[in-house]
Amino acid sequence: MFFDFSDFKTAYLTQRPYFVPQVHSDILGALKELPYLDSLESLLEHWPGSIQVHLPDLRDEASSVDTDAECAMSYYDQGMGLLFNDAQVLSPMLEEWLPALRKEIGISALTYGRNLIYATPHGQGTAAHFDQNINFVLQLKGIKRWKIAANHHLQNPMTRHTMGQPVDPEMMTYLERPMPTQMPQPTESFDLHPGSLLYVPRGYWHSTEAEGDALALNFTFTAPTWTDLLTAALRGRLITSPEWRETADLSEDKFDTLLRSLIQDLPGWRAKDILAATEAFHDQ
Ligand SMILES: [Fe+2]
Repeated sequence: MFFDFSDFKTAYLTQRPYFVPQVHSDILGALKELPYLDSLESLLEHWPGSIQVHLPDLRDEASSVDTDAECAMSYYDQGMGLLFNDAQVLSPMLEEWLPALRKEIGISALTYGRNLIYATPHGQGTAAHFDQNINFVLQLKGIKRWKIAANHHLQNPMTRHTMGQPVDPEMMTYLERPMPTQMPQPTESFDLHPGSLLYVPRGYWHSTEAEGDALALNFTFTAPTWTDLLTAALRGRLITSPEWRETADLSEDKFDTLLRSLIQDLPGWRAKDILAATEAFHDQ
């Protein structure tokens, strides 16, 4: 769809970035049909919901306020980046592309896939951070310089983290070494021109800077981990039992009895049964 999938799959499986200098003209042609992607002004004219403004202290969504289309331009004119979340609601075509891309990647039907549009004023961008999401960035207007680096501080983050900010308590439990204070080396640099696409692996450090006013369309996937699939299945199973639905009265004996019944049940658990429940049911 966007690129050669066997090349992408190699990058995906080795957790390496994948850069396409220019995606197929069919993709760009189809996007040109969407009038609101023409410019920030037309996007603001069509946008139905709230818009996230990234404040200048952090240049990151960790420090942001919400605004509406009427006020967004004045923030932008003062040098602040704007984020339009769930932009697929504007387009049946994007609504179709998201699950198609998700299936190509081979991730769960329980994945939350969405489009984000970033409007970034000249000279601005985002501070160094990593996300828990799988992300594809398609540049629409202007040039965006991406600096990215592999994450050797932790593997497979469950939440995002901005460099220099406190680490959340859950992340502290699997942090492998102290967080860096600057972009780790080696840092790779990619200049995204209109039509360029960059796949950013989950957890990769990245920072950006716009040259000229920039507009980018992201395809962002928050995919369940094995932990998420198992805990979803476990909950589904346990709540069929009135004993497991009891309000926990903190009795250790009662809890041990329940755990013993679960241990007896677990040897019969198979991946195919769990996946049949999580995938087939949700992949309508
Ligand atoms: Fe990011």
